[in-house]
Amino acid sequence: MSWMKSNKAELEKKFFQHGAILFRGFDIDTPKAFEDVALQVDNRLKNDYYGTSPRNIVKDTTYVYTASELPGYYPIPQHCEMTYVKHPPISIFFYCHVEPDYGGESPLCNFRKVYADLNPKIREEFDTKGIITVRNYSNPKKSSRLNLFQLKKWNEIFLTDNKAEVEKQCREQEIEFEWLGDDNLRLLHRTPATIKHPLTGETVWFNHSQVFHPASAPVEYKFIHAHQQRTKTLFWKLFISAMVKIKSLHTAPIDQSMNVLFGDGSPVPDSYMQHIEEVIWKNLVIIPWKKNDVIALDNFSTSHGRLPYEGKRQILVCWSA
Ligand SMILES: [Fe+2]
Repeated sequence: MSWMKSNKAELEKKFFQHGAILFRGFDIDTPKAFEDVALQVDNRLKNDYYGTSPRNIVKDTTYVYTASELPGYYPIPQHCEMTYVKHPPISIFFYCHVEPDYGGESPLCNFRKVYADLNPKIREEFDTKGIITVRNYSNPKKSSRLNLFQLKKWNEIFLTDNKAEVEKQCREQEIEFEWLGDDNLRLLHRTPATIKHPLTGETVWFNHSQVFHPASAPVEYKFIHAHQQRTKTLFWKLFISAMVKIKSLHTAPIDQSMNVLFGDGSPVPDSYMQHIEEVIWKNLVIIPWKKNDVIALDNFSTSHGRLPYEGKRQILVCWSA
């Protein structure tokens, strides 16, 4: 900690230059110690979370959560955190409390580079039209927390069952909402597909298309299988591809559990998602976790995700605004 205090200026310079810092080999052996390190880098930690991953707060901390309660076979594609909300986190911190038995890396990607490497025609279409991020949630009393198409219930996102309170939070967060009957809820976020980095002014790919667009999941698993080469990953690659095709046959793009449309409401072609995934995987950095590692991320330039894993794994997270 004293090293961090005396090297704060150098740390900040490297943080924004590279987008991420890995702290390895330090004596950071409890969630509370992790929280203290994160506060040293950025003292604006917060609890607001309008995202999709099921998370639980960690005992003896104020701001530390489990990174995701999603099952180990479920990959999390690259994304900057909460790109679709009014005030996305500025910094994200991850901590390896229990090293994964197999896999479970949290790959990182420079989304400034992704934007620069995209096909100019595709990039221009996103730039011109912007995007709508779509989320459809069922009645919380009738849906499972781990419905793999919905991931969370709306009362877990807004931390209330009160519909008027949900509507109030939506207005505050500039989220368009629509009750679809039987307490089903549709959320729409209209945003640009990119941002200008608040400090450097660089253009950054900043949206959840590679997470929410149905066509991205089969491509994501194709790359995961090429990386992990396991019978299980082959099974999931084929299974997910079939599931997405079947669901797309009888579900309109706006009615998918999650989707990203262009800002004019037209669908983003599947071939675009293939290209975006290829560019992301070309720029991906995959470093296996070691116990007590801490990664600090500049959320406005660098994305994160999760590869499937086996056995134990506990990665904790906190974020600032
Ligand atoms: Fe995330």
